[in-house]
Amino acid sequence: MSKPLHFDTLAIHAGYKPDATGSLQPPIYQNASYQFRDTGHAADLFSLKEAGYVYSRLTNPTVSALQDRLAVLEGGTGATAAATGHAAQLTGLFNLMRAGDEIVVSNRLYGGSTSQFKNSFVQFGWKAHFVDIDDHAAVKNAITPQTKAIYCESFANPSGAVADIKALADIAHDAGIPLLVDNTMSSPYLLRPIEWGADIVFNSTTKFIAGNGSAMGGAVVESGKFDWAKSGKFPMMVEGDPAYDGLKFHETFGSLAFTMRAHAVGLRDLGACQSPMNAYLTLLGLETLHLRMQRHCENAMKVAEFLQGHGEVAWVTYTGLKESPYHALAKKYAPGGFGAVFTFGVKSGYEGAKSLVGALNLLRHVANIGDTRSLIIHPASTTHHQLSNEHRARVGVAAEGLRVSIGLEHAPDLIADLDQALSAAKRARAA
Ligand SMILES: Cc1ncc(COP(=O)(O)O)c(C=O)c1O
Repeated sequence: MSKPLHFDTLAIHAGYKPDATGSLQPPIYQNASYQFRDTGHAADLFSLKEAGYVYSRLTNPTVSALQDRLAVLEGGTGATAAATGHAAQLTGLFNLMRAGDEIVVSNRLYGGSTSQFKNSFVQFGWKAHFVDIDDHAAVKNAITPQTKAIYCESFANPSGAVADIKALADIAHDAGIPLLVDNTMSSPYLLRPIEWGADIVFNSTTKFIAGNGSAMGGAVVESGKFDWAKSGKFPMMVEGDPAYDGLKFHETFGSLAFTMRAHAVGLRDLGACQSPMNAYLTLLGLETLHLRMQRHCENAMKVAEFLQGHGEVAWVTYTGLKESPYHALAKKYAPGGFGAVFTFGVKSGYEGAKSLVGALNLLRHVANIGDTRSLIIHPASTTHHQLSNEHRARVGVAAEGLRVSIGLEHAPDLIADLDQALSAAKRARAA
């Protein structure tokens, strides 16, 4: 057997072979529909007896190339791309949850995800129990007979705190439910949750995967290892689907059941498909993921060390620093690097944090992460504004805290910019 290809090679080649034209780049198939060979072919495609292209809301060749590459990079069997990271979360959960079902969710998710689970998913009758994901007794206690999954982020946004994925997977599997991990902050280059027992992995491809802030997108990847029939908790995956002549996804598609249903039901009925243009841009970004992540991590470490040693800085959460309570866990799960997103607090408090953001020239003030450019935001007044003070405190979003996403610039330029801006914050404190 030949040696398996390395991640760096797969990031460039997986999921696409030159099509009939020989185009080396995956072409942008900018079309809505596909001509059937004959009526029998159409009927077979519609009833899922044959794999193929029907309508771009369900499948599109450019989007398929991205899906196949992401599935390989995450170590899964299949992937479903969606319009955004949030759309992927919705499409993925729609495979598991019915009205009255529950999910145990980390209380340190990205603010937008917290809001999605807390304020919007309840409209479908899905109930989220928020728990401290480090408190494994609390995670176990929150599981009820209605619970369909445990959900966490590999590296939490914004602090970078690391979830103990192996331990959480064991808890989930003991309860007969899957572990769902949002891997946006680390990307599969740094951490592959499936290798640690996760069953379903989400990515907002808008971030490090696309890599330059040019395309919205999301994806959900399945490990192919979860037995949807065993616990009796997932009738949608196991029982006959009336819209497909009683087809049983688990029985028919085995290790691809989740992905097939996410396309055939989730994308078909929720409609949050990814555009071919965005899939193309994301594939371009993926080709350099391995190189970019190395530089992101190197730069983030240099900036975090600078901030830690600065007199105006009260605290830094970067897990690459050996003082971080998550340093050991980060080294275990992501030995290749600690990511590029973290928070730090200024001694000059809320006003100082605002002055600092205003004084920066190079770090851009935006609501995004994972760009080639270095980015900064004040979470307490923006991304995490919708949370209560108590919830913000629990997830480490302090009034004086700032989130940075360190880009690919020359690190001394970033440090010089932060240095002059910290002086402005100091002057604001003195005034
Ligand atoms: C960790 C994480 N998950 C999910 C999302 C949602 O992704 P999108 O903005 O692509 O919908 C974000 C967005 O910031 C995020 O940071």
